Amino acid sequence: MTRSARAAIYCAPPATPAQEAMADAQRPGIRRLERMDDLVSLCARRGFVFQSSEIYGGINGFWDYGPLGAELKQNLRALWWQRVVRERPDVEGIDSAIIAHPRTWEASGHVEHFSDPLVDCRACKRRFRADQLDDAGACPAGGDHDFTPVRKFNLMLRTHIGAAEDVGSVAYLRAETCQPIFNDMKRVREAARQPIPFGIAQIGKAFRNEINPRNFTFRSREFEQAELEYFVHPSEREKWFDHWLEERLRFHRETGLDPEHLRTRPHAPTELAHYARAAVDIEYRFPFGWHEIEGVHDRGDWDLRRHGEYSGKDLGVTDPETKEHYLPMVIETSVGVDRSCLALLCDAWREEALEGGETRIVMGFAPRLAPIKVAVLPLSKKLAEPAEKLAARLRRRWNVFYDDSGNIGRRYRRQDEAGTPWCVTIDFETASDGKVTVRDRDSMAQERIGLDAVEAWVAARLEPA
Ligand code: GAP
Repeated sequence: MTRSARAAIYCAPPATPAQEAMADAQRPGIRRLERMDDLVSLCARRGFVFQSSEIYGGINGFWDYGPLGAELKQNLRALWWQRVVRERPDVEGIDSAIIAHPRTWEASGHVEHFSDPLVDCRACKRRFRADQLDDAGACPAGGDHDFTPVRKFNLMLRTHIGAAEDVGSVAYLRAETCQPIFNDMKRVREAARQPIPFGIAQIGKAFRNEINPRNFTFRSREFEQAELEYFVHPSEREKWFDHWLEERLRFHRETGLDPEHLRTRPHAPTELAHYARAAVDIEYRFPFGWHEIEGVHDRGDWDLRRHGEYSGKDLGVTDPETKEHYLPMVIETSVGVDRSCLALLCDAWREEALEGGETRIVMGFAPRLAPIKVAVLPLSKKLAEPAEKLAARLRRRWNVFYDDSGNIGRRYRRQDEAGTPWCVTIDFETASDGKVTVRDRDSMAQERIGLDAVEAWVAARLEPA
């Protein structure tokens, strides 16, 4: 069976505990996210993510993560780094500069090929991507249209280095995080003494001057990528492509995304990027349709060959046994951190009908990714001493929220919206029986456990052996 046929028939594996919790969310009385507006307003109100430079009216295509969003993103990065770098003796992590030598982007093909087709509408004075206009050619802004001929618009964001703003000082903010990896490959391989196959990974910002940023953070002008470039012998390309596609699907399931909301889509030869010989997208079912969150690409020898030609350096490797000298082929996995976060936010959102006609919004994140792991809620300010002590102890290991004001029901609701898996309530009995109440976000069940047992209780659920 060919690689693309295998990818196309991917079907959902058995559910993990996090996904079983998600399946619970399909119960009657539960509404999953259908309109992005519901999520966008929650994200702004609770400080997950909101327009950048809001006080100046925002800046299109740029987003800021608040306290909850920054933690969510950090947890996602940490899980990726753990699975892709730390657990793999064959992968090294790096952290490169955002601006590379401008020749990098000539060699990579971005200066020549990295463009979208652009049209201006003379009637409404707006710009559109020609490939996103509908077949009837109507203006997306409505009303009459008067389009200019299509022209190519390069998506790289340019800047100047040094005092003179002339052609010689042009530089680019990186359009993908992988190009510095190719620049550094020889140095990293030698420093880390890695034989082929081996990989180099990094997480960092990328920039694209998108013509129409849209769908909340989905298509932004500044975003983050987590990329792995895995260098293999030419005879092993298929094997490693399949391996990494499987690994990456496993990862997305581990983040708690509903398997029914994940699928793979091989690229047709006509849609392949200029560097790719084969590509499979991992797609998530957003409320606005199925869209790519990650690409797995066979980049062949495109990058090392071109950087070798443009730099004049030999980027080949020599097999220590056979003495064969060859250019390794590259298998790439490239996930958008912001897009994955958006998928996590969409998947987590649910509205539940409660008894008495009330509703609650719950962000049902997998506990490992939840921004806050535990909320410590003393029933009265008079219970501050044991409550603060407990919070301080838990804070050494996890992000903990402390809230001693307002009615306890309202405090629980606020934590449901933040996606906090467990709330620990300290009450007036705690002093006499040494126990606290742990309330579960999803089932709302309450359990009484020893104050001294809380840390181990949480650890057993967050970090099972
Ligand atoms: N190095 C290969 C590469 O950059 P890509 O398919 O252009 O491939 C990889 O991008 C991932 O980066 C996408 O799957 C997506 O998650 C993310 N991404 C790309 N453009 C983006 C944008 N404008 N806004 C947010 N994320 C984006």
